[in-house]
Amino acid sequence: MSQKISQDEMKKAAAIEALAFVKNNSIVGVGTGSTVNHFIDALVDIKYKIAGAVSSSQESTKRLKAHGIEVFDLNNIDTLDVYVDGADEVTKHLHMIKGGGAALTREKIVAAVAKEFICIADESKQVEVLGNFPLPVEVIPMARSYVARELVKLGGDPEYRQGVVTDNGNVILDVHNLEITDPIALEQSINAIVGVVTNGLFAHRGANTLIIGSPDGTKVITLP
Ligand code: 5RP
Repeated sequence: MSQKISQDEMKKAAAIEALAFVKNNSIVGVGTGSTVNHFIDALVDIKYKIAGAVSSSQESTKRLKAHGIEVFDLNNIDTLDVYVDGADEVTKHLHMIKGGGAALTREKIVAAVAKEFICIADESKQVEVLGNFPLPVEVIPMARSYVARELVKLGGDPEYRQGVVTDNGNVILDVHNLEITDPIALEQSINAIVGVVTNGLFAHRGANTLIIGSPDGTKVITLP
C-alpha cells in the first residue's frame, strides 16, 4: 500500500537532497520561504563543515543565526559556489516565478553572485508555462500607481499586496493574467519600467539544477 506524502514532506525531502550540493568550507547562498526553512534546518547537521551563509532575507537570517550559522554580508563575498532557494513556479527550462514571500530582490542579488542556483520545490511548482501564479514586482512606493498603469499596458492585472513592506522598504504588485511566453524578454521589459526595483521572473538567470520532491521520491534535474 503506497503511503500519502504531504506537500510539506515533499519540500523537506527536496531540501535535504540539496545538502549534497554544499561544498566543504564554503559559504552557502540561502533563499527564503518554507522550503528553504527546511534547508536551513538541515544545514545544522553540516554546520561544522561550512564557513557560513549569505542570506536573502531578514527571515532567513534570523533562522540561520538561531541555528548558530554565521551570516556574512554579501559585500564582503566575491563569489558563492551555490545558492539554494525555492520557487512559486518552475518550467522544464528552469525558468522560475519567485517572490511569493516578497524577498525577490535580495534573492536575485544573491543568486547573481552564485555559480550554481539549486532550486528546491515540491512537484506542485512544476508548470508548462509560467504565469498562473501572479508575478510579484517590487516597486518604489511613490511609483506604485505609475508602475501599475505600465503593467496594464503589458497585458497584466496588477494587484497591490496590502500590508506588505519588503526588507528594502518597498511595496509589491502581484500581476495576474500575464501570458508569459517569453520569460526572458518579459523580465527585461518589466525591469525597464521606472520605479520597478525588480520582478519575480528568474529567467535571464534561471536555476542550474532543480530538485523536486514527489510522492515517488526526489528527482534531480540539471541543465546541460
Ligand atoms: C520567496 C520565494 C520563495 O522561494 C517562494 O515563494 C516559494 O516559497 P515556498 O518554499 O514557501 O513554497 O520566492 O520570496
